[in-house]
Amino acid sequence: MAEKDIPNGKGGQEVTPWEVKGNEEGKIDYAKLVREFGCSYLDQPILDRMEKLTGHRPHHWLQRGIFFAHRDMKEVLDCYEKGQPFYLYTGRGPSSEALHLGHLIPFMFNVWLQKVFKVPIVIQITDDEKYLWRGLDLEESIRLGRENVRDIIACGFEAENTFIFSDFDYVGGAFYRNITKLQRAVTANQCKGIFGLNDTDNIGKVAFPAVQAAPCFSDSFPHMFGGRKDLQCLIPCAIDQDPYFRMTRHVAPPMGYKKPAQLYSSFFPALQGESGKMSASDPTSAIFVTDTPKQIKTKINKHAFSGGRDTEAEHREKGGNVDVDVSYKYLTFFLEDDERLEQIKQDYTSGKLLTGYLKAELIAVLQKMVAEHQERRKLVTDEVLDQFMKPRPMPNIFPRSPDLQINLLPPRS
Ligand code: TYM
Repeated sequence: MAEKDIPNGKGGQEVTPWEVKGNEEGKIDYAKLVREFGCSYLDQPILDRMEKLTGHRPHHWLQRGIFFAHRDMKEVLDCYEKGQPFYLYTGRGPSSEALHLGHLIPFMFNVWLQKVFKVPIVIQITDDEKYLWRGLDLEESIRLGRENVRDIIACGFEAENTFIFSDFDYVGGAFYRNITKLQRAVTANQCKGIFGLNDTDNIGKVAFPAVQAAPCFSDSFPHMFGGRKDLQCLIPCAIDQDPYFRMTRHVAPPMGYKKPAQLYSSFFPALQGESGKMSASDPTSAIFVTDTPKQIKTKINKHAFSGGRDTEAEHREKGGNVDVDVSYKYLTFFLEDDERLEQIKQDYTSGKLLTGYLKAELIAVLQKMVAEHQERRKLVTDEVLDQFMKPRPMPNIFPRSPDLQINLLPPRS
C-alpha cells in the first residue's frame, strides 16, 4: 500500500486499536510511531495559523504537545480559510460501562474544535466492533454503547451540530453502500497486513474496518450533508486508531473522495506508568468518570507511579523526576493554568514540593472535574440522548452563517 501498512512498532512496542504496550524501557516511542505510520508532527506554524484563522488561542493540549501529530491539517485549514465546509469525525467502541479519563480526551478536544471552528461532528459508536472483538453479548454491547453516549454528550457537544450513531442502528442506506464500496476496494491480504489479523480470526473482523472507514465519506450522512461527496473530514483521536485511517486514505482518491485528515494525541497513561494507555479492563490502572471523590483519592495515593525519592530527606536533596511521575503527567492534561503547572514542575524537580503535595493537587483537580462531569451526565435524559442519535436534517450547518467572521489576529509573539 502507498501509506505505510506496518501494524506495530518494533522493539517490543505494540500500538494497535486493541492493544497499547510500551517498548523494553516501558515507554511509548512516539517518534517511531510517527515514522512508521507516516504522519507528521504538529508544528508551531500550524498552531499559529489555527489561531489566526479562528481567533482562538490553541487548546492547551495543542500547546503542550499532547495532540502532537497530524495528516493534512494544511488542507483542512485551507478549506476553512476559503469558507469551504469540513466536518469532524470521532468515535467510541463501548467495551465498558463507564469511560475512563483517557477516553474523555478526544471528546473534550472535539467539543473545543466544534465550538472554535463552528463545524458539525459525527460520532460513531462501534458496538459491532466490540461484539466481534470482545466476546460481549450483543444486547450488552448496545446497552454499553448507550451508556457511553451519555458521557460523550456530557462533554458538551452542540445538539444542532452533532450526530451520534450506533453501528447496529445506523448501518443501512447510504452508509451501507459506502461500507460495501470500501469492502470491495480493500483485499483480505491488505486488511490482514494493516490490522495484524490472521486466518483464525472471525470474518467479521476482516469486514469491520470498512465500517469505521465509511464515516470518513460525507455522503454516508445524507440527512446532514445532502449526499455531498466532497466534504473534507477531520478525525481527532489518539494515535492507536491510525490503522483504520491509513487504510481509508489509501482507497479514498480512487473511490472519488478526499483523503480524511487526522489530528492525533498521545495516550493518557495508566496510573502505574507510561508503558501503556489507561485500560478500562484493569480498574486499578484507570480513573473512571463514575469514580467517587474517595475512590479518586485512594487510586492516586495508592497506585499513581511517583517520580519522587525514597525518603523525604533524599527528595529534598535531589528532587523528583517529572518525566516519569504520573501525577505530574495527569496535571499536564487537566491543569489548564500554565503558570501553576510550571511552578509545580520547578518545585518538584528542586525537591521543594513532596510527592504527597503533588498528589493532593492532582486529586483536587480531578475530583472537581469528575464531579462536574457527573452533574452534567445527570442532565442527559433518554429524550436528550435520542435527540442526538436521531438521523435528522441539519439545515443550518452549511453554508457557514454569514455573520461568522474569520478573525485575523496578529501572529503570536
Ligand atoms: P475506543 O473506545 O478504544 O477509544 C475511544 C477514543 O478514546 C481514545 N483513547 C485514548 N485517548 C487518550 N488516552 C488514552 N488512554 C485513550 N484510550 C483510548 C481512542 O483513540 C478513541 O479516540 N474503534 C474505536 C471507535 C471509533 C473511533 C472512530 C475512534 C470508531 N470510529 C473514529 C476514533 C475515531 C474504539 O474502539 O475506540
